[in-house]
Amino acid sequence: MNDGGQKRYGPLGSALVIIPTYNEAENIKPIVARVRESVPEAHVLVADDNSPDGTGKLADELAAADDQVHVLHRKGKEGLGAAYMAGFRWGIDHGYGVLVEMDADGSHQPEELPRLLTALKGADLVLGSRWVPGGRVVNWPKSREFLSRGGSLYSRTLLGVPIRDITGGYRAFRVETLQGLGLDEVASQGYCFQVDLARRAVEAGFRVVEVPITFVEREIGESKMSNDIVVEALWRVTAWGVGSRTGKILGRKPS
Ligand code: GDD
Ligand code: MN
Repeated sequence: MNDGGQKRYGPLGSALVIIPTYNEAENIKPIVARVRESVPEAHVLVADDNSPDGTGKLADELAAADDQVHVLHRKGKEGLGAAYMAGFRWGIDHGYGVLVEMDADGSHQPEELPRLLTALKGADLVLGSRWVPGGRVVNWPKSREFLSRGGSLYSRTLLGVPIRDITGGYRAFRVETLQGLGLDEVASQGYCFQVDLARRAVEAGFRVVEVPITFVEREIGESKMSNDIVVEALWRVTAWGVGSRTGKILGRKPS
């Protein structure tokens, strides 16, 4: 993290809140309504992976009634990373200046988004953080908290990236930041996509700021976290860490 003290930040462009969905039928309407209420000028893009429970159709109904709501229909479940990549490309193509990541299940409270956007005025990337002072989680099982804290600690240590909550999924990017991350080379499919983008941002010299959030565990529906997602994260983070260390020993720049 560089201190960015000298850097001047341009005004924020219009914001697009990207909400990836897979089987979020009971959550999609309330979450979109909360975003529209909390940040009325922002647009919303629902990136749905052809959810069997009809989430995509509900999103279409929202879009038909509100020209600030859009839907990206994808053909099937390809993982969170792939859904966000498609959403980012859509947002870049449509000229938005700020792209926000937000879960559909209410864990990322839209009422906290104005604070993230305010912080982005002096940063390249803002991370909503559970593990900085003032951040917390509500109703999360101890096993999930252990996994998240452990995952962040492992990644932070191995990758040498000074971020407390590196796996979190509530984020606001300036579009220039995303364009500077080499998105075309991102292969991460599952939740380790979040670690991948954060480490790329730090390595590229962007100013990354963590803002405390209250993460509220979902009340409706199920988490899509799975063993496969954990295994992908573990092997990728380990490979990145070993790769950058080997590079440092051999005097190469990290890729
Ligand atoms: N389109 C699409 N495709 N959406 C998906 C997929 C997918 O394959 N998998 C998950 N999602 C959506 C869910 O519908 C939800 O809106 C959001 O991604 C987060 O999924 P959850 O399953 O609720 O995640 P979680 O609560 O277990 O995990 C949270 O913590 C992780 C670790 O810190 C999230 O905040 C993650 O972003 C975060 O990485
Ligand atoms: Mn969730």
